[in-house]
Amino acid sequence: MSSGLPSSGLSAAALPQRELTAPRNSDSVRVGVIGYGYWGPNIVRNLSALDRCDVISVCDKSAHALKRARKTYPAVHLTTDFAEVLRSPDIDAVAIVTPVWTHFELAKAALENGKHVFVEKPFTSTSAQAEQLIEQASRKNLRIMVDHTFVFSGAVRKIRELVDNGTLGQLYYFDSTRVNLGLFQHDVSVVWDLAPHDLSIMDYLIRERPEAVVATGGNHFNDLADMAFITVYFPGNVTAHINVNWLSPVKVRTTLIGGRDKMLLWNDLEPDEKIKIYDKGVEITNGQGVYDLLVSYRSGDVWAPKVDPTEALKLELEYFVECILAGQTPSNDGVAGLRVVRLLEAADQSLKNRGRIVTL
Ligand SMILES: NC(=O)c1ccc[n+]([C@@H]2O[C@H](COP(=O)([O-])OP(=O)(O)OC[C@H]3O[C@@H](n4cnc5c(N)ncnc54)[C@H](O)[C@@H]3O)[C@@H](O)[C@H]2O)c1
Repeated sequence: MSSGLPSSGLSAAALPQRELTAPRNSDSVRVGVIGYGYWGPNIVRNLSALDRCDVISVCDKSAHALKRARKTYPAVHLTTDFAEVLRSPDIDAVAIVTPVWTHFELAKAALENGKHVFVEKPFTSTSAQAEQLIEQASRKNLRIMVDHTFVFSGAVRKIRELVDNGTLGQLYYFDSTRVNLGLFQHDVSVVWDLAPHDLSIMDYLIRERPEAVVATGGNHFNDLADMAFITVYFPGNVTAHINVNWLSPVKVRTTLIGGRDKMLLWNDLEPDEKIKIYDKGVEITNGQGVYDLLVSYRSGDVWAPKVDPTEALKLELEYFVECILAGQTPSNDGVAGLRVVRLLEAADQSLKNRGRIVTL
């Protein structure tokens, strides 16, 4: 296989292995997971717990990572060679949980080998790569799901319900803050690491297509931005703003959403009452001239709706398996992943030009 990826440098034979064989069962999906670093164990844990899914193989080029996997999943086949997973006739789908720069080559090889693909955010490093994978999957009738985890969280599903049933009224703005100290990534900026979360949430809540992006920010250690402020303009005077930062002394995960009828605060660090809805707003009455503009403020009740605490990744992976078995296209498919990658590229372009507006 000519995937262009560096080889593992560790012989697969160095690890005790279970035979990579699994009986074919049309009611379940057999998955191989590539990447068992920080996020991979969450994927393996959730897939293993699903009724209609079998984790057949876990691959990581690091022997240390596989040692950890062996302790928790002694019955699962382990390998340092991703080609073994991609070529196996006993695997229906591959989860790619490796650094961003490897997503395209691994997903491409998986699709070439007839595997459905679950790939981490951000989908790819460029929109051209994303387009190529979407075309390849469509030609081979295979599913792509991009891990936009937050879209499956109880909080975001509740907010979508409040947007859809008109509780908030016409949307004015979406303002998200995702800041903490580190973790610095080696291959991507804070924009490509953290903003995919906010951009995918924004994409899920504001169904309009964005018109333009402005981004400013800074880099203090290498040429990758470690803090950024991204503004996304939508039709209908809806504005989104995203603040991502690896240099914050405190961890903040809050989103404010302003609507004409209600305003909402989502604090994801709150154990209970993650969402608060404020019956607050502004009413304008036009007088005779511009100086007669009358502004009155409404300040009513505040309440906290119930939020489903089910782990988002569990629901998302359950949906992945369902989509494969039903031959259905997931809502967080390659096209959703591409929309996010296009916004990330626009943010990069604007950042490079010190905040010049980039029209989409
Ligand atoms: N959805 C989320 O909330 C979430 C959270 C964290 C990370 N992520 C995403 O998950 C991906 C991985 O992030 P991470 O923090 O787990 O990174 P990580 O560096 O901790 O782990 C990546 C693992 O992949 C392995 N690997 C790399 N190339 C490989 C190859 N060719 N073959 C086999 N193994 C290989 C590495 O050895 C490492 O163990 C990234 O795309 C990241 O954006 C998503």
